[in-house]
Amino acid sequence: MITIPYLTALTTYFSYGLLFAFGQFRDFFRKIFDWWHASNLQGYAPICLGLEDFYVRRLYLRIQDCFGRPISSAPDAWFDVVERYSNDNNKTMKRTDKINRCLNLGSYNYLGFAASDEYCTPRVIDSLNRFSASTCSTRVDGGTTTVHKELEECVANFVGKPAAIVFGMGYVTNSAVLPVLMGKGGLIISDSLNHNSIVNGARGSGATIRVFQHNTPSHLEKVLREQIAEGQPRTHRPWKKIIVVVEGIYSMEGELCKLPEIVAICKKYKAYVYLDEAHSIGAVGKTGRGVCELLGVDTADVDIMMGTFTKSFGSFGGYIAGSKELIQYLKHTCPAHLYATSISPPAARQIISAIKVILGEDGSSRGAQKLARIRENSNFFRSELQKMGFEVLGDNDSPVMPIMLYNPAKIPAFSRGCLKQNIAVVTVAFPGTPLLLARARICISAAHTKEDLLKALEVISEVGDMVGIKYFPAEPKKLEQGKDTIKLE
Ligand SMILES: Cc1ncc(COP(=O)(O)O)c(C=O)c1O
Ligand SMILES: *[C@@H]1O[C@H](CO)[C@@H](O)[C@H](O)[C@H]1NC(C)=O
Repeated sequence: MITIPYLTALTTYFSYGLLFAFGQFRDFFRKIFDWWHASNLQGYAPICLGLEDFYVRRLYLRIQDCFGRPISSAPDAWFDVVERYSNDNNKTMKRTDKINRCLNLGSYNYLGFAASDEYCTPRVIDSLNRFSASTCSTRVDGGTTTVHKELEECVANFVGKPAAIVFGMGYVTNSAVLPVLMGKGGLIISDSLNHNSIVNGARGSGATIRVFQHNTPSHLEKVLREQIAEGQPRTHRPWKKIIVVVEGIYSMEGELCKLPEIVAICKKYKAYVYLDEAHSIGAVGKTGRGVCELLGVDTADVDIMMGTFTKSFGSFGGYIAGSKELIQYLKHTCPAHLYATSISPPAARQIISAIKVILGEDGSSRGAQKLARIRENSNFFRSELQKMGFEVLGDNDSPVMPIMLYNPAKIPAFSRGCLKQNIAVVTVAFPGTPLLLARARICISAAHTKEDLLKALEVISEVGDMVGIKYFPAEPKKLEQGKDTIKLE
């Protein structure tokens, strides 16, 4: 739950109101002056309609220099950001030849596998030479290589489930698997802040969808009880199947899932648990096995374990791990397995190699060191930001930490201010977050050194003062004579 300072909420609404009013005003005049050009639509309805087009033109384009910055190197702790300029108030951006080496606080490179690695990279290159970049085929045709078989066994073993199936994309894993598992007569109960891939998968399934308050087990139980009592719409027959979908770490909040409580409730009401570990697998837990390991939940109690390879493993794709029966069923029915080209073999080799390093099967202790580093780095950075007075969301141990900005004017000010001093940060606003809750999202990596973090903190503190986002300044404690102080003669 975020409590917004009253004044901040007011000024934020006011800023958006002003931007909206001016935008509408300009659109109105454009319509009047351009009305005779309208005939070139030739009877077609405009292909871009409504508020989203307005939002892009009048709000997003003003600050688009803060988004989609071209990068010309691997997303390591430091990376190369290409400098851009604009001749039309940032409506269109042009690239220069200049490159700025910036500290990368935006990539999901939690374990530092995104850059060249002494163990992984030679194996990936070898696999590229042997298998090429693509299988040019679906899994059921010619697209299952020995690497794919090895990867599925490796993933099942790593996450602690009997079997696994892999897909070429994390987003597709959610959006294509949920419609296979659920359909009409089924009930999906989804956390209110679940990722868009889950939302679209749920919508595409045709099942009834109910949302529970973000990470609130008591509300989940309330929704479950109500829905079980109600049954299916109109007919009131019992639901064919109930599935509860949650994430391990919420990527915009930095929060850990209250998994033990949620699993207990699902058991009580016989609902299946679907856990998306995109941001938690590899990143948390003593041996990197995600939130189950961190929070002490038996993986046998999580029916469908989903995750992506695009964060901690520095690769591409997604997986579902579960019972042998479930995985067999998905292999026979999931369209993303039957009709989509299989995951690239070098990407698959990268995942296998990264897991081997994490488990120490490369014969070194680098994996364990990375896991210790990501935890130390994250907890250090979070506590320092909090000490400085920033409003930081999320839990300890999570490498994702949003810093609240709120006001739309503070988004470009913070982003540009940091970039000027070679710190690259990601800012997120509506529609990625609710309108009022714009934020900068820091992702910490095991690849960051202590010096990197200290530099980042120094710059962020300075820019934070300039932009005015230290919403919780640590007040110097007022000392009361006699109560808080002792007089020494
Ligand atoms: C929770 C969650 N699920 C799924 C995805 C999609 O994964 P990918 O980016 O690998 O397609 C993401 C991506 O950020 C995510 O945060
Ligand atoms: C365009 O972006 C640059 C930074 O890239 C910024 O300094 C400038 O103020 C922006 N211009 C407008 C009109 O917003």
